[in-house]
Amino acid sequence: IRVFVPRDTTALSLGADSVARRLQREAAARHEGIDIVRNGSRGLFWLEPMVEVETPKGRMAYGPVTPADVPALLDSGLLEGDASHPLALGPVEEIDYLARQQRLTFARIGVTDPLCLDDYRAHQGYVGLEAALTLSAQAIVDEVKASGLRGRGGAAFPTGIKWQTVLDAPADQKYIVCNADEGDSGTFADRLAMECDPYMLIEGMTIAGLAVGATQGYIYLRSEYPLAKEILDEAISRAEAAGYLGENLRDSGRTFHLEVRLGAGAYICGEETSLLESLEGKRGLVRFKPPLPAIEGLFGRPTVVNNVLSLAAIPYILAEGGQAYASYGMGRSRGTLALQLAGNVKRGGLIELAFGTTLRALMEEFGGGTLSGKPLRAVQVGGPLGAYLPESQWDLPLDYEAFAAESAVLGHGGVVMFDDSVDMAEQARFSMEFCKVESCGKCTPCRIGSTRGVEVIDRIRAGENRAANLTLLGDLCETMVDGSLCAMGGMTPFPVQSALKHFSEDFQRARGEQS
Ligand code: NAI
Ligand code: SF4
Repeated sequence: IRVFVPRDTTALSLGADSVARRLQREAAARHEGIDIVRNGSRGLFWLEPMVEVETPKGRMAYGPVTPADVPALLDSGLLEGDASHPLALGPVEEIDYLARQQRLTFARIGVTDPLCLDDYRAHQGYVGLEAALTLSAQAIVDEVKASGLRGRGGAAFPTGIKWQTVLDAPADQKYIVCNADEGDSGTFADRLAMECDPYMLIEGMTIAGLAVGATQGYIYLRSEYPLAKEILDEAISRAEAAGYLGENLRDSGRTFHLEVRLGAGAYICGEETSLLESLEGKRGLVRFKPPLPAIEGLFGRPTVVNNVLSLAAIPYILAEGGQAYASYGMGRSRGTLALQLAGNVKRGGLIELAFGTTLRALMEEFGGGTLSGKPLRAVQVGGPLGAYLPESQWDLPLDYEAFAAESAVLGHGGVVMFDDSVDMAEQARFSMEFCKVESCGKCTPCRIGSTRGVEVIDRIRAGENRAANLTLLGDLCETMVDGSLCAMGGMTPFPVQSALKHFSEDFQRARGEQS
């Protein structure tokens, strides 16, 4: 009997290893033959550790399971998929949270054993690469253009156009760089993809190499993801051994090598040019653009820099065709978006949906409201540089253009919820302070502006000359937006300005004073 116990970072932090050990021990004591598969998480985090059992009726889920629950679960027929125990969730595919999603990129997550190549191939794995190997470089790029895929790191630049630029740039060496420096608060989709389905990223990068003529790839991974590093390194060596990486890929005469490189904990190294500096062994300082990395990137060579999720969408696009991917979504936002629900939320997790759903539906129907049970007051979408949205904006469709029209961003899909105990002036201060700590220091509006921003907000909160300081804060924000070299300084004002605009009452009372 196959029993699945996830081993991604979230499940492990909630005790999945102890649950697996207890299951093994109790089953042995009962002379039950079980085969424990360490799958990835389905992304329903409030149910982790979620144990699944394979039965003739499909996989049955139980969660959240503690080691102490294991004997009673076995007594009540866990191995037969019995649903009488209070932790029984029924057939996993029918859990509402999962059944209502459109999982294209995350289709295999939680289903397969992340490191098992046979399992990967049995679930559509490497179909995209096999197709790409029969196509010309231009035909691969055309397929990606037809999919309408836009950069999932946050900037939403059309991936096919970026690849075309690199394909058209003549050079003796080109590179594929995966930006896995997932730094946005409340985000975890990249980590989940890498830990739970590493071959998907490897396959996507290999296809990118074939598309633009690059023979070397690097995954720039944040050092805070040690398990992802372990899993990716192992997956890369298994893929090499099976002929999916290295020289003469699948006897095609083509070459693609891949390595993982670790960052050192700087948020700014998620910005593509400072990432490239860091990969070259230098301090992570932002470069001027132009030249674009697509023309002069890593070691001055044409380089595709794409986020994990952009590259992870590629195998599906090559396997099913660009049109299949483009059939999801709305307007110019095609395909699906991996939303990550976090903060003060009852049911946090990973939700992959076609563009177009509203933020309200996401927070209420999936999230189930706040964990505290208090009314929801604000939501920050798109990481620490994203705007805070008040209730009047929760019916916005999740679409790049609809968000941009409201001076908001979808970014990397992080959605952080706050209840009515939040002090939005304090949140605004946090944005400036975050920028102060993480600024690379290259340009003045960001380096000095963020420090002054913290001071001005402190004066406002202390009730000092409030009207004049509010005007000053508005001017400072404008200067940072207009004068900063990169998104760090250029977007930090977004959360501050949105807090000022929609939650101005929080700036009108002294620090700690209740409304
Ligand atoms: P950008 O708009 O300058 O560039 C987007 C991408 O398109 C870059 O890779 C750029 O090199 C490329 N590009 C632009 N024009 C091109 C052309 N003609 N040909 C080929 N390639 C071209 O945005 P940037 O500064 O790279 O990213 C800012 C975004 O990063 C923000 O919107 C924010 O949402 C996001 N972000 C994401 C974080 C995360 O953890 N995922 C953290 C912080 C910010
Ligand atoms: Fe560096 Fe900030 Fe300027 Fe970006 S905006 S280049 S992080 S100082």
